[in-house]
Amino acid sequence: MRVFHLSAECYPVAKVGGLADVVGALPKYQNLLGLQAAVVMPYYDRKFVHENEFETVFQANELLGSQRFYFEILKEKTDKLGFELYLVKIPGLLDRENVYSYPDETEQFIAFQIAFLDWISWSQQTPDLIHCHDHHSGLVPFLLYHSRLYERLAKTPTVFTIHNGQYHGAFGWNKLSLLPEIDLTKTGLLDWNGGINPLAAAVKCCWRYTTVSPTYLEELTYNSNGLEYLFYTERAKGSGIINGIDTEIWNPKTDPMIPENYSVRQLASGKQKNKEALCARFELAPDKPLISFIGRLVLEKGADLLAEAIKNSIMAHPGEINFFILGAGEVKIQEELLALKELYPTECNVFVGYDESLAHLVYAGSDFLLMPSHVEPCGLNQLYALRYGTVPMVRTTGGLKDTVIDFGDGEGYGIRFIHTSVSDIIHAVGRAATLYANPPLLQLLRKRMMALDFSWDRSAKEYIDLYESLKPAI
Ligand code: ADP
Ligand code: GLC
Repeated sequence: MRVFHLSAECYPVAKVGGLADVVGALPKYQNLLGLQAAVVMPYYDRKFVHENEFETVFQANELLGSQRFYFEILKEKTDKLGFELYLVKIPGLLDRENVYSYPDETEQFIAFQIAFLDWISWSQQTPDLIHCHDHHSGLVPFLLYHSRLYERLAKTPTVFTIHNGQYHGAFGWNKLSLLPEIDLTKTGLLDWNGGINPLAAAVKCCWRYTTVSPTYLEELTYNSNGLEYLFYTERAKGSGIINGIDTEIWNPKTDPMIPENYSVRQLASGKQKNKEALCARFELAPDKPLISFIGRLVLEKGADLLAEAIKNSIMAHPGEINFFILGAGEVKIQEELLALKELYPTECNVFVGYDESLAHLVYAGSDFLLMPSHVEPCGLNQLYALRYGTVPMVRTTGGLKDTVIDFGDGEGYGIRFIHTSVSDIIHAVGRAATLYANPPLLQLLRKRMMALDFSWDRSAKEYIDLYESLKPAI
């Protein structure tokens, strides 16, 4: 079965967050299970595209409203990522450096989807199934089934995965003319709350949708930024499949991005050496418990609470605990954290920015990883932390709830708390300090974590089973 994954991000080509990690790994593991999975994504002006060789496999002109645009489909020549990689290059519109946040983002992603559909309609590249990820490819199911232009493909099943239901990519009806010719009796399928909503359209039109954890499937019915009723009514079409991690890239035994490789056997010494490297770089004390945060500095991640919670924790345990933050996002949050670092330079340090290899060092060198997320559809950070023997401290929500068991419960290994609140975080920090003061228990939990299996094998198979279940109808 030939499947095209359609996404705005894919590691290592272009990454903003976990979407890239998933789309960079899932197809690889699906191919190992006998599928023919490929990735189609926009061409960005990034290191990967300059350092690798591509061939042009298709080129054409299309219309975006009244504007004609030229596009090319480039294929990476070696399939070195474990899957075929196709880039949609649209000069002047979709060949810029950043993935998101351009004022013409709506035009960019509509053009991306038009180019993709045009290519598969006119070339020999007919997929058996199209798997769209998040709203950037959310119009594809609608266009496929309700535009005369793509009639040849109208029986192709589509699966839509929601990585983040907070972002819908909505835009006004005044931009309807940007879409190619569609069946105007079906425009209701595009609508939500008086606008064109690609996420809602995808959920309505796809054959099946999935969320990146079972708990998030339920949460969307009461927390999805206005789409709650839709998720409630479409619930029968949905299923929750937990993300896996790429255990080749995220492996403390072989990770080239950390100074000291280790396995369960050299766990304590291996982690300590990485901690020393991290602490030396950021002027922290390697003999104190180190609690880190990695992620986008946005409300969703609970990053708005970090400064206040860390400040109070430091006051409650003066000189006893160190904190490190790696992230970028809202300016106000960045400033609060940088001010905190000025206030407590020996107890807290902050790196504002995106740094892939530093993230690996932080997972390896920290004792605890804090994730006080308001919303967490799956979360990969806690899975990386587990793999590197770092105790996750998570709010009980979404994928965090599905992957972390509190160490107080039976065979548990993490620290969980109920509310996204400063007081719950402070309480969790207190538990972390107590745990750190008990090395045999900490060691036991670390061993337990590192023995867990969150590889893609099981989830990749679940997706394939879902595809197969759509087959009889093809
Ligand atoms: P989300 O996709 O919502 O941001 P995930 O937990 O699914 O959250 O994935 C986040 C991914 O991005 C992880 O691979 C994490 O290590 C990485 N990441 C986030 N912020 C940074 C940063 N500032 N520097 C390096 N890596 C980061
Ligand atoms: C989104 C979610 C995150 C999830 C990731 C990959 O960015 O916020 O929780 O892990 O997608 O599915």
